[in-house]
Amino acid sequence: MMRNPGEELEDAAARYASEAIRLDSQGNYAGAIVKYQNAVEALLKLIRLYPDNPVNRLYYEKAMAYQERIKALQRLRGIYGAPEGESPPARGDADGGIRVAPMVETVKATFEELLVTEKPNVSSKDVVGLDNAKLALRQAIVYPYQRPDLFPLGWPRGILLFGPPGCGKTMLAAAIANEIDGYFLSVDAASIMSKWLGDAEKNVAKLFAYARGLSESKPVIIFIDEVDSLLTVHRQEVGGEARVRNQFLKEMDGLSDKGKNLQLYVLAATNKPWMLDEPFLRRFQKRIYVQPPDEATRKLLFEKYTEPLVLDSNVNLGELAKLTEGYSASDIRDICQDAQLRVVTELFESGRASDPRSRPRPIKLEDFKEIIKQRKPSLIAERIKLYEKWNEMYSAA
Ligand SMILES: Nc1ncnc2c1ncn2[C@@H]1O[C@H](COP(=O)(O)OP(=O)(O)O)[C@@H](O)[C@H]1O
Ligand SMILES: [Mg+2]
Repeated sequence: MMRNPGEELEDAAARYASEAIRLDSQGNYAGAIVKYQNAVEALLKLIRLYPDNPVNRLYYEKAMAYQERIKALQRLRGIYGAPEGESPPARGDADGGIRVAPMVETVKATFEELLVTEKPNVSSKDVVGLDNAKLALRQAIVYPYQRPDLFPLGWPRGILLFGPPGCGKTMLAAAIANEIDGYFLSVDAASIMSKWLGDAEKNVAKLFAYARGLSESKPVIIFIDEVDSLLTVHRQEVGGEARVRNQFLKEMDGLSDKGKNLQLYVLAATNKPWMLDEPFLRRFQKRIYVQPPDEATRKLLFEKYTEPLVLDSNVNLGELAKLTEGYSASDIRDICQDAQLRVVTELFESGRASDPRSRPRPIKLEDFKEIIKQRKPSLIAERIKLYEKWNEMYSAA
C-alpha cells in the first residue's frame, strides 16, 4: 500500500516519542532527551509540511510538552549528571528543590481531547446565499427537533453536505448547531484516523457512545468534517479503513434502530463525495449540495465582506461579482482582506501609521481588479461539473 511522506513522518514521531518515554521511565535521561528532541523535530516538520492538517493543534501541544520535558530533564542532569570522577550529590537534599515528576503522559492523546463541544459563534445569517441548503437543513434537523410529533414516519438521522471547498459546508454546520438548544460534537475524520489517538475503530465507537449518553438530556449533532477520510486514509495495518468504516456503518444503523424519537443527528461534510460508496451513502438519507456562489450570491458576499471597509465611490460590487466566476466564497473573503491589506500597507510604508488618527485611503475598483487578476479562482469548471453530475445522481435534499 502506498504511504505518503506525512504518514512516514507521523510514524517516526510516534516512535521517537514512545522510545523517549521508555528511556525516561528507566532513568536514562540523556537518551530520553535525544529522542524527545527527535520527536519534537518530526512533529514540527509535519506541521510545516501540512499546515492545514486539523491534527496540528495536537502535534503542537505534544511538541510543547516534550520540550518542557527536555528542559526539566536537562535541569535534572545538571544536578545528578555530574561529570565522571566526581561523586554525584546525595539525592534528596541537593536538588535545590527541583523535582521532576515522572512523565506520566503516554504517546497517545485521549480521543476526548479532540472533541469540540463548544458551539461555534456563527449564525445562519452569516452564511451568504445557499438558501436551498439552509432550508434542507432546517427540514432535516430543526423541524423534527422542535416538533417531533409532526413526524409520525420518523426522520433521517444522517445528513451529508457535499460540494467544493470554501463554499460554506463547515460554516453551515456550525450555523445549524446554533439553531438548536443541544450539543454539537465536532470532530474531523482525519483526527479519528490519526495514530496519535489510538485505535480509530474504538474512537468511532466512543464517539457514538458519548453522543448517545448526551442525547438523553438534550439533542446532539455529531459533525464529522472531511468524512471521506474515514474511508480513504491509508492505514499501515491492512484492512484498517475497512474496520473503521464498518464500525461507523454499524453505529449509523444503531441510530435508526433506537427509539423513534432519538434526537441524535450525524451531519457529515465532504469535498469528495465520489469517494463515498453506496453502503455509506445509504446511511445518509439526506444529501445536500452546497454549491459555489452564483453571480448574485457573489455580489452579496462582496457586500458582506466589504461592509466594514472604506470603499472609493468607483467600486461597483456588481462588476466584481461578474469578474469572479469560479471564485469560492472563501476566495471572495480573501480578496476583500487583500484589498484592505493593500491600503494598510501603503499607510505603513508611508510612515504615517504611527499617527493613530491616520487612515488608509479608500479602496478603489482598480485595487480589486488587480488582486483578482493575480489570484486564480479556486474552483475549476471541470471540477464543478463533477459535483454537478454527482448532485444529479445522488442528491437527496
Ligand atoms: N456561504 C458563505 N457565506 C459567507 N462566508 C462564507 C461562505 N462560504 C464560505 N465562507 C467563508 O469561507 C470560509 C471557509 O468556508 P467553509 O465553511 O470552511 O467551507 P467548506 O467547509 O465548504 O470548505 C468561512 O469561514 C467563511 O469565512
Ligand atoms: Mg470545511
